[in-house]
Amino acid sequence: MEKKRIVLGITGGIAAFKAASIASKLTQLGMDVRTIMTKSATEFITPLTLQTLTRNPVAIDTFDERDPSRVMHIDLADHADLVLVAPATANIIGKLANGLADDMLSTTILATEAPIVLAPAMNVHMYQNKFVQANMKKLADHGVKYIEPGEGQLACGYVGKGRLAEPEEIVAWVQSFFDKKHSLQGKTVLITAGPTIEAIDPVRYLSNHSSGKMGYALATAALFAGANVILVSGPVALTPPQGAKVISVRGAQEMHDAVLSHLDDVDMVIKAAAVSDYRPKEVLTHKRKKHTDNWEIELIKNPDIAYEVGKRKRENQLLIGFAAETENVEMYAKEKLEKKNMDFIIANNVLQEGAGFSVDTNAVSVYGKQGLIATYPVMSKRDLSEQLITWLGAQL
Ligand code: PMT
Repeated sequence: MEKKRIVLGITGGIAAFKAASIASKLTQLGMDVRTIMTKSATEFITPLTLQTLTRNPVAIDTFDERDPSRVMHIDLADHADLVLVAPATANIIGKLANGLADDMLSTTILATEAPIVLAPAMNVHMYQNKFVQANMKKLADHGVKYIEPGEGQLACGYVGKGRLAEPEEIVAWVQSFFDKKHSLQGKTVLITAGPTIEAIDPVRYLSNHSSGKMGYALATAALFAGANVILVSGPVALTPPQGAKVISVRGAQEMHDAVLSHLDDVDMVIKAAAVSDYRPKEVLTHKRKKHTDNWEIELIKNPDIAYEVGKRKRENQLLIGFAAETENVEMYAKEKLEKKNMDFIIANNVLQEGAGFSVDTNAVSVYGKQGLIATYPVMSKRDLSEQLITWLGAQL
């Protein structure tokens, strides 16, 4: 890799220790890594570690100008090909979102014209905090990219989203950034995700086991590939990826309306949502009391959104559906592809271990009009989505 210049910002969180590994790997890839640490970061890891690993001086204090011929933060800002902040605390995110510059790192970032990518790491409640989320959204709207934190055991004792992405993932992100794997640059992708819920009465509904993980992973991958993403999401307990335009819906009819109203603006529709095929004919206005032993609910068909998209799509638009099956996977997937005029269908056997609903992994087969195109063994929905999106970008 040609000598790319990375400004690596390290802020004060326990995950700062992982920055050493990131700096080392980037340096080993031949990149020129210039580290800026906040004062708090130096409480967790020493500047000498970073200096030794990158063979470059580490900047901490804005006023520690050693070379009179240069203003250090402007020099760093001007020569960066990419500014990576890992870990990025809620504090630096807040400062950047509000244009504040009170230390070397924030001053440099404010002065740079280089692309900025933040790898957040913080307590799960801090990550979900509405002010933090608003700051992240504001930055994303202005082109700042994110390397999403992972979920799991956090240093603070909580379990949830907020753990710094693994150094390997962060380095892979940087590599592919420079590889210009922007297969969906300038394209708009609409992705449906999650379940739909169909009201029975004010307290009950019909739904399914979809968690939204597959659709959200696809949205993240599409954003990474440079796409504008419209994420039409049923009710899920996930934080949407920064930068996606999120339309929250509940029932199939609402999802149908949201998808069709955006159809003219998109290059690709990926239907990962698990849409309820039926809904109660009548939605009761009051909670039904259990005064009978049996309760029969008459269901009527919901609109088939994929079918409607297949009917209306233009020549140069791609429609990709999913097939969630429990038997005869190939046969049913091919039937759906044909009937709904899809370009491709991604079939998953939801009875297979590690595949389908709710889990973090999936295993799929992709079919086109000509038959089976590819099979993907069990892997994380994140990795699968990256591979699918790269391939789909090439199909456009
Ligand atoms: O959300 P996760 O927990 O991560 O789980 C992922 C998943 C299993 C939900 C996902 O991988 C998946 O298979 N999504 C499609 C589920 C589904 O509804 O499949 P289906 O075979 O019933 O429908 C076929 C296609 O038609 C789907 O693209 C579906 O979105 C679409 N459809 C179905 C019914 C309907 N009324 N309108 C539709 O558009």
